[in-house]
Amino acid sequence: RDEAGRRVFDLRATTGTSRFRSGGATRTWGFGGGYLGPTLRAARGETVLVNVRNDLPETTTVHWHGMRLPAAMDGGPHQPIRPGTTWSPTWKVDQPASTLWYHPHPHGETAKHVYRGLAGLFIVDDPATGRLGLPSRYGVDDVPVIVQDKNFGDGNRFDEGHPLMGGLGIMGDTILVNGTLGPYHDVTTRRVRLRLLNASNARTYRFVLSDRRTFALVGTDGGLLPAPHTTDHIQLSPGERAEIVVAFAPGEKVVLRSDPPDLGEVGSARFVGGDDAFDVLELRAADRLAPSPALPGSLAEAPRIGPPGGAGARVDRRFELSGSKLNGKKMDMSRIDFAAATNATEIWELTSLGGKPHNFHVHDTHFQTLSVAGAPPPPELRGWKDTIFLRAQQPVRVAVRFGDHADPRTPYMFHCHILYHEDQGMMGQFVVT
Ligand code: C2O
Ligand code: CU
Ligand code: CU
Repeated sequence: RDEAGRRVFDLRATTGTSRFRSGGATRTWGFGGGYLGPTLRAARGETVLVNVRNDLPETTTVHWHGMRLPAAMDGGPHQPIRPGTTWSPTWKVDQPASTLWYHPHPHGETAKHVYRGLAGLFIVDDPATGRLGLPSRYGVDDVPVIVQDKNFGDGNRFDEGHPLMGGLGIMGDTILVNGTLGPYHDVTTRRVRLRLLNASNARTYRFVLSDRRTFALVGTDGGLLPAPHTTDHIQLSPGERAEIVVAFAPGEKVVLRSDPPDLGEVGSARFVGGDDAFDVLELRAADRLAPSPALPGSLAEAPRIGPPGGAGARVDRRFELSGSKLNGKKMDMSRIDFAAATNATEIWELTSLGGKPHNFHVHDTHFQTLSVAGAPPPPELRGWKDTIFLRAQQPVRVAVRFGDHADPRTPYMFHCHILYHEDQGMMGQFVVT
């Protein structure tokens, strides 16, 4: 903490090397050297200050994905950090307990910077929900699971080539969790919370446990769900998060896997990862497990910001994703697509016209899903979201609550979080006034 009582973090983006497997080190980018960056953590009500030093050979940015904060602190393409300089955003954390993340967002270069290793978790704690009894010992029974796919080329270098088919950019055949290949976690308690983050460039995962056992989904992008939802799978597209609680018996071995995801209508599923399955993380329970508190029956207040149902309700804005364009346009750093009022609620309809998978992410705000193809949203979409997968021709209606930080000059972004699409220009900008 500094004299002003702010919680201070130092991040240094730099080139380095990492050893993922035998046969030679891999050149990587990371915060503090190596691969990925530290987990940052702050409580609701705290003011944070992050000193982001750029020791890379090129300009980057650091964006706080899922954070509500002033646009000038957002770390999008309008806050470049030139090589050899430091950017020091500061803001007051004021949002529910949630699993957020940070990653570069330089105009047209995001895919490369993230792929090389620049990303990390940002956990928000909330004293109001901190006593719920969810597993919360970091690294013991509250475990970050940052999932990424890589291709290793000659000499273990990261292969940044795009497959000819698919149109999603880099799709890897090798899974890393928290930057580790072939990872496992030693389970020492009856229940473990996994904070899943899909930090991959393009791949969507459908997480399941190897014996198809059920688990409790307790949180999504913007925080805890109203109540735990028992399920045997959770699908996450790039940028999405989920917190799940898994119960274990002594001595057992369970593998967190990814099944072929349901991508909806796509030209050819096999070129976009629709047929792929992976082992992600092995969970090895000890012969004796410490007790864990029972799961609470309710977790957080249900978001209620739009008209119930959504169908038939007014629609304030429509967004169509097609090819590499959003509403027929490509990102233009000097074009502001719209202005919204502080604390306004708007109903948006998001539609992917198909061909390739797309999702949709909005900065600063969180949204509530009102309907998917006219039907009520499934349980995993009942909490706060900031990123949502769009199946082709299945319009999603969301109620978006804008933040309270007015700045008529500095825009926030909305975009497809398949990083190649984002870089190609499937992105727009808005201001809050
Ligand atoms: Cu996770 Cu605009 O980004
Ligand atoms: Cu974001
Ligand atoms: Cu896309």
